[in-house]
Amino acid sequence: MSTSIPNIAIREVSDFEGQVVQLQGWIYNSRSSGKIQFLQLRDGSAIIQCVNVKAEVDPEVFETGASLTQESSVRIIGEVRKDDRSPLGFELGVQGIELLHLAKDYPISPKEHGVAFLHDHRHLWLRSKRQHAILSIRNELIFAIRDYFYTQGFINLDAPIFTPNACEGTTTLFQTDYYGQPAFLTQSGQLYMEAGALAFGKAYCFGPTFRAEKSKTRRHLTEFWMVEPELAFADLEQDMNLAEDFLVSIVSRVLDRCQEHLKVLERDTSKLEMVQKPFPRVHYNDAIKVLKDLGQDIEWGGDFGAEDETKLTQQYDRPIIVHRFPSAIKAFYMREDPTDPKLSLSMDVLGPEGYGEIIGGGERETSLEVLEKKIEHDQLPKEAFQWYLDLRRYGSVPHAGFGLGLERAITWICGLHHVRETIPFPRMMERLTP
Ligand code: 4AD
Repeated sequence: MSTSIPNIAIREVSDFEGQVVQLQGWIYNSRSSGKIQFLQLRDGSAIIQCVNVKAEVDPEVFETGASLTQESSVRIIGEVRKDDRSPLGFELGVQGIELLHLAKDYPISPKEHGVAFLHDHRHLWLRSKRQHAILSIRNELIFAIRDYFYTQGFINLDAPIFTPNACEGTTTLFQTDYYGQPAFLTQSGQLYMEAGALAFGKAYCFGPTFRAEKSKTRRHLTEFWMVEPELAFADLEQDMNLAEDFLVSIVSRVLDRCQEHLKVLERDTSKLEMVQKPFPRVHYNDAIKVLKDLGQDIEWGGDFGAEDETKLTQQYDRPIIVHRFPSAIKAFYMREDPTDPKLSLSMDVLGPEGYGEIIGGGERETSLEVLEKKIEHDQLPKEAFQWYLDLRRYGSVPHAGFGLGLERAITWICGLHHVRETIPFPRMMERLTP
């Protein structure tokens, strides 16, 4: 095809009104009235309707247009025309079509398919409008997260994926053989970010984390991405302030830049507009009282189940922060509340609309002696934690941080039912493919 014709992405068409351009992509859908074909072309940047009129093109061009099946790959030349009825605002008047590959029997048709079928075909399902919207929001959030921490003066120090340390208990560890010695896939980069905070003041990691979850729920993946900031000279209060400011910032960026994608998902954005400071802060003791009043079967000392989180958050119109969970249900590194040693200086941010926990964090124990006792109590291997204890031997300071589960955040922001659509290739208890 001619090289003098500009080869552009569909999302750029508004700059080329009245001009002849070349687009390249895949046929998303098509219909024909005999003398006129409407070809929906997608190229990953957007979808445009290409109008192929029998009376206006060479017979071969019309024939090629008629032969195109869903997901066939093509190059199309045509004139960009304004079209106020289309979501894009433009259409293409076809002049030429080059067929690159004719797709036969594409398995995902516009009709409804079962969830398992779609996940078996995840490598193709990624091409659909809804997945495109969700993963574009994921992309925006990743940049929003990095920009937020960059502008707040945090350094990005990624934590290793192979580790000898169980950060979040020993029941969800994926173990592997590391040249004859056992290693685990990381459950959290936190312990390494504590080293980072004591070296750089403010540090964060952002990467995949792994948990051998034994439960099949709509909130659990076995491989998920977590962003974990850690702050030196910070207490629980400052940690909660940071989590709140961070969430407000990233939600507002998605609202600013992703309206089109949120529309595809039919997300009620008025709910996201409510994500403003301050978030209600609820002491664990009070949360238990509220849950009991709501008829939930929970006693003081128990951890919240999904239903408890849903019931509790339904009382509010924005995220809430529950703080000071009992030490017994939190990890060894949580600092005890000096006013009540049964409680820890921990916090969870629970999303509204029943989405439940999206952030977990708190203030860290600073005393070497207390940590040594806790490691022993939790029967963790002492040797593997010696490097971590050095952080309390050499210049120990109050510090705090948290972890946001990226996929949980996307599920809530996009208003989805299940976490599995928020990651390109989900890993769950029953799924390792594609
Ligand atoms: O509350 P968690 O277990 O906290 C930690 O791992 C801390 N070490 C983080 C820190 O303080 N640096 O997990 C943090 C978040 C949860 O709030 C949730 O959003 C997400 O990680 N998460 C999961 N997301 C998807 N699938 C799972 N199986 C998850 N487990 C935790």
